[in-house]
Amino acid sequence: MASELLTPLRWVDNQLLVLDQRLLPLQTQWLHCRGHAEVADAIAVMAVRGAPAIGLAGAYGLALAAREGVSLRQAARTLAAARPTAVHLQWALDALQAAVPSGEPSAVLAEAQRLHAEDAGLNLAMARHGAALLPADCRVMTHCNTGALATGGWGTALGVIRVAHATGRLREVLAGETRPWLQGARLTAWELQQEGIPFRLVADGAMAWAMHSLRPDWVIVGADRIAANGDTANKIGTYSLATLARAHGVKMMVVAPVATIDWSLEDGRGIPIEERGADELTRVQGRSVAPQGAQAWNPVFDVTPAHLIDAIVSEKGVLLGPDRVKLEAWKG
Ligand code: MRU
Repeated sequence: MASELLTPLRWVDNQLLVLDQRLLPLQTQWLHCRGHAEVADAIAVMAVRGAPAIGLAGAYGLALAAREGVSLRQAARTLAAARPTAVHLQWALDALQAAVPSGEPSAVLAEAQRLHAEDAGLNLAMARHGAALLPADCRVMTHCNTGALATGGWGTALGVIRVAHATGRLREVLAGETRPWLQGARLTAWELQQEGIPFRLVADGAMAWAMHSLRPDWVIVGADRIAANGDTANKIGTYSLATLARAHGVKMMVVAPVATIDWSLEDGRGIPIEERGADELTRVQGRSVAPQGAQAWNPVFDVTPAHLIDAIVSEKGVLLGPDRVKLEAWKG
C-alpha cells in the first residue's frame, strides 16, 4: 500500500520538514521548520493538520526546542496553543516530556521519532479491527481527511478503508468534500486516487440524498477528542452525518487511537471547539465569494453524541454501542 511511503513530516538535517497540505494536490512543497515557533505556526495555519499528525509535529517541535535551548515546558505551551480541539497535541507534548525529563536534545528527538513510528503501528492495528466490521462488497462514506497525511502513517478511518480495499471487500468510497478547507476533495481524493481505491466525491450538502439514494453501509470517520462517555469531537459536519446516518439506517464508526480519549471530560460539553476566521468562508482560494463585510460563524469541529455512534475502534479493538462503562476497559 503506497500510504506507507506518504508522510506529512520528515526530520532532515536537524530540521522538521512539513508537507504544506494547504497546497495539495496541486503543489508539493515542504516547509523547513528550524525552531519550535515555526512548528507552532505550521500547525496554526494548517500546513500540517489531522489530530495525530499535529501531535507528532508538536513532539518534533519539542526536539527543535531542546536544540534551541528553550525549556520544553515553555515550548510545549506555545505548541499546545496552536490548535485547541485535538487532544492528541497536548497528549504528545505531555508524553514526550514525561519520557525525557532531562530534555537532552538527542533523547527528545529519539522519543519524537519513536512516537512517530508507534503511531503508524497503532493505525494499522485499528484499521484491521475496523475493517473486520464491514460486510462484503461494502460502500462506505467518509469525511475530512484521516489518511496518511493526517497521521504517522496509514490513517485512522482511511486506514480502515485501505484495509477493506486490500482485502477485497470495498465497492466504493463516498468522500465528503469537507468545506471550507476541502480536506476531502483535496487530500482524501488524492490519497485514494494514488492507491486506485474507487471513490466518488460528494458535496457536503448532498449527504442526506447520498444516504437515501446510494445506501452506504457505514460512515467511517476519525476523531479529534473523545470524552469519557464516548461523545466525539471531529471535523465540522460529522454530527450532521451521524444524525443522517441514524435516520437512514446507516451505521456510524469512529476510528481513533486511545490517546484521543480525554478521560478528564465527563462528556462532550467540555470539549473546546476551535473557531477560525470568517475569511475561510467568505473567500475561496483567495477570491471573495461573499459580499464585502459579510459576517460568518466558522466552528471547525462539532461534537457527535455517543448514542449516535455504533462503534468506536482503537488499537485495542472495537466497542459496539460505546458508553462510559465500555470505554473504561481501555483506560490505563
Ligand atoms: O482541521 P483538521 O484538518 O485538522 O481536522 C482533521 C479532522 O477532523 C480529522 O477527522 C481528525 O483529526 C481525525 S484524523 C486522523
